[in-house]
Amino acid sequence: MASQLLITGAAGFIGANLVYRLLLMTDYSIVVLDALTYSGHLESLTSAMDNERLEFVHADIRDAGAVRSVFDRFQPDGVIHLAAESHVDRSIESPMEFVTTNVQGTAVLLSEAERAWSGDTSKRFHHVSTDEVFGTLGPTGRFSEETPYSPRSPYAASKASSDHFVRAWAETYGLNVVITNCTNNYGPYQFPEKLIPVVIDRLQRREQIPIYGDGSNVRDWLYVEDHCDALIEVFNRGAPGETYCIGGETEMSNLDLVEALCDIYDEVSGRDVGSSRGLIDFVTDRPGHDFRYAMDITKIRDDLGWSPSVDIFTGLRSTVGWYLGNQSWVDAVQSDEHDTFQGRWYTR
Ligand SMILES: NC(=O)c1ccc[n+]([C@@H]2O[C@H](COP(=O)([O-])OP(=O)(O)OC[C@H]3O[C@@H](n4cnc5c(N)ncnc54)[C@H](O)[C@@H]3O)[C@@H](O)[C@H]2O)c1
Repeated sequence: MASQLLITGAAGFIGANLVYRLLLMTDYSIVVLDALTYSGHLESLTSAMDNERLEFVHADIRDAGAVRSVFDRFQPDGVIHLAAESHVDRSIESPMEFVTTNVQGTAVLLSEAERAWSGDTSKRFHHVSTDEVFGTLGPTGRFSEETPYSPRSPYAASKASSDHFVRAWAETYGLNVVITNCTNNYGPYQFPEKLIPVVIDRLQRREQIPIYGDGSNVRDWLYVEDHCDALIEVFNRGAPGETYCIGGETEMSNLDLVEALCDIYDEVSGRDVGSSRGLIDFVTDRPGHDFRYAMDITKIRDDLGWSPSVDIFTGLRSTVGWYLGNQSWVDAVQSDEHDTFQGRWYTR
């Protein structure tokens, strides 16, 4: 059983939630490695920073020397790798950053893990990946561990490529790996360029809420804490070399989701329910916009006993409440000089 974990990308959305979950539910000591790009912020880890089980290292996963010194200094027994460029729209505008961080950075981590662990298969490398590697679905069917890869955006292609490198390190060097492919997450600490925090931000500013195309694209939504619990289960109990698909079993069109958010916001802020829907504005669709994602989670449910526990309306209510109660976090993460793609529409 691992006692010291290296979590990459833990100043980002899922990583920060995972750190809080690990501190609460396990005895692991944690080393966080993060480059603090535009989407990574120490403000997301404020409540954990004083915990003596947590160390933070400001480093880039593409920097082999820096990664090696983290392995040498902290000797982690396991890695949960989340660091990535994660935004599809940005990948369309600047694909090379996705190639270097998501592909090259993952290969650097694999290489340094293999060097540090030199064949010790009690140490584990867990790669956190996405359902987008599978491409797009029509109106029926679901992705599963058997679905062939068919990435359609530079982001999806970079994650697919990194999944392949992870499997290659298992086959070639005997590294103990697990991979998880998850659907869209939502919840606290998500950078306000992705769909749900952008909608909440627009609602508060009373600005138009742009929706790509006619809003019929479907995503399967999972509350981030449920995802973190699934990651902990897979890291601790998943079989070596296996892939596990994770999803919320909650399909919603973008339009239905945005309307639900408008109504929850109206309810919470004492407005007439339905009045905020008037802010919705349909805009030109994203190029190559995948139509539908949905996940078959039979394997993780049967093998590890995990299934989602937070229903979408409860999760959305608590997410809206979190953003309204944490405006200082929103202001802090937006105050950097990074381009936050304001004025555009953002889904992962
Ligand atoms: N958000 C989702 O819905 C979702 C769903 C499935 C899988 N994933 C995967 O989960 C992981 C985390 O996603 P997220 O939504 O939390 O992303 P995020 O953009 O919020 O966080 C990414 C983190 O990685 C860090 N990072 C980026 N480049 C780095 C580099 N070169 N070196 C070190 N750190 C770097 C950033 O500073 C940031 O803290 C990603 O690998 C993503 O592909 C996300």
